[in-house]
Amino acid sequence: MSKKLLLQNIHIEGIRNYDIYRKNGGYTSVEKALKMTPDAIVEEVKQSGLRGRGGAGFPTGMKWSFIAKPAGVPRHLVCNADESEPGTFKDRYLMEHIPHLLIEGLIISSFALGSNHSYIYIRGEYAWIATILERAIAEAKQNGWLGKNILKSGFDCEIYVHRGAGAYICGEETALLESLEGKRGNPRIKPPFPAIKGLWERPTVVNNVETLAAVVPIINMGASAYAQIGVGKSTGTKLLSACGNINKPGIYEIDMTISVEEFIYSDAYCGGIAHGKKLKACIPGGSSVPILPTHLLLKTAKNETRYMNYESLSDGGFATGSMLGSGGFIVFDEDQCVVKHTYTLARFYRHESCGQCSPCREGTGWMEKILLNIEHGKGRMSDIDLLWDIQSKIEGNTICPLGDAAAWPVAAAIRHFREEFEWHIKNPVECLKRNYGLLKELVTT
Ligand SMILES: Cc1cc2nc3c(=O)[nH]c(=O)nc-3n(C[C@H](O)[C@H](O)[C@H](O)COP(=O)(O)O)c2cc1C
Ligand code: SF4
Repeated sequence: MSKKLLLQNIHIEGIRNYDIYRKNGGYTSVEKALKMTPDAIVEEVKQSGLRGRGGAGFPTGMKWSFIAKPAGVPRHLVCNADESEPGTFKDRYLMEHIPHLLIEGLIISSFALGSNHSYIYIRGEYAWIATILERAIAEAKQNGWLGKNILKSGFDCEIYVHRGAGAYICGEETALLESLEGKRGNPRIKPPFPAIKGLWERPTVVNNVETLAAVVPIINMGASAYAQIGVGKSTGTKLLSACGNINKPGIYEIDMTISVEEFIYSDAYCGGIAHGKKLKACIPGGSSVPILPTHLLLKTAKNETRYMNYESLSDGGFATGSMLGSGGFIVFDEDQCVVKHTYTLARFYRHESCGQCSPCREGTGWMEKILLNIEHGKGRMSDIDLLWDIQSKIEGNTICPLGDAAAWPVAAAIRHFREEFEWHIKNPVECLKRNYGLLKELVTT
């Protein structure tokens, strides 16, 4: 069983409330951190090996060290609680059940970055969690952890909760900043990166909820102890949200040393495939990352065991690997249709494209239409190569990574399940029978 750092106290009744959180060791990391220098905290986070838990896995300490410090210009820390990647629901769990862990992490991180005004940007659909966070912030303030001159350290800090209006693109950090400024959530061209020009053109760091929560155990236990958990460049623990055709969907905290096979089949985690079915495939890190068929999910192309960590899941690049991404683990049993799921994802990305770049705006729409045709029995063999061509022209040619996120699932589905696309094209009547609902949708849209 993996060691727990973030969820170790989650079972304690009332842990959402300040008094109980504090009685169980809460806020001790703030006491410790405020006796350190900001640079020492940044160094500690660097040494811990913590990587951003929002998807890209960028080293957090390094990101913090990039923040510009022009004299007299305020700096900001923004917590990305948008959590809109399909299949990902770990941040929700953390904020809902142990909100003070995030507030504690935010205070330390704000101190390290010199942010006196920090923000939590939360997706609009998490309205009740925004209320939980607002209450936790008020409790922290009443008890002297926020406001002016915290613990007589000379450091002032306020945290504000800002609700989004329900757009996936607002999870992308620069779109999030635009939205926080009150504008339409369109991604910005980078550079300049937010560390130089972010919120209101001020130096800004954007970090995921889980990343900021992980700063608490790092300060409490020390960077070297944290770095010893896990393996290689996958240090510490990682929250995974597991869903799909498994016996035990839910949130699991793992230490990134367990194999994918253990994660799927062990009773401590997913508990195996539901209804005794066989495993067909899995999307290991949220809907944007490539799907892997069973043989590449359990073993790498070199016939080595595949582990639940950043390096092992990406082993072989996208030809034979995928990504740990945001930790949204979606499992498919033998009865699932990859073409249908790929269509569902293409539809999602078309809907969420902000429309600024032609390859993303036009390409996502074309891919959706072609996939819908194939899925309901109106495809042609040439459509498979056409799809491949379109996705390859989106990837890497857009302002923000939503374009890549739309292209990768299509590429991986064709790469690993081409015969399933061919089957659809050769068996149009079967497809029609299976997809009466989809057909109706085509007629009415
Ligand atoms: C389309 C899109 C959606 C994203 N959604 C989220 C999200 O919901 N939550 C998140 O933390 N990061 C999301 N990201 C990644 C952020 O842009 C950013 O890299 C992340 O918040 C940085 O935090 P980290 O370094 O702690 O991982 C998204 C990126 C893209 C391109
Ligand atoms: S890639 Fe798509 S979502 Fe991102 S900026 Fe371009 S059009 Fe908008």
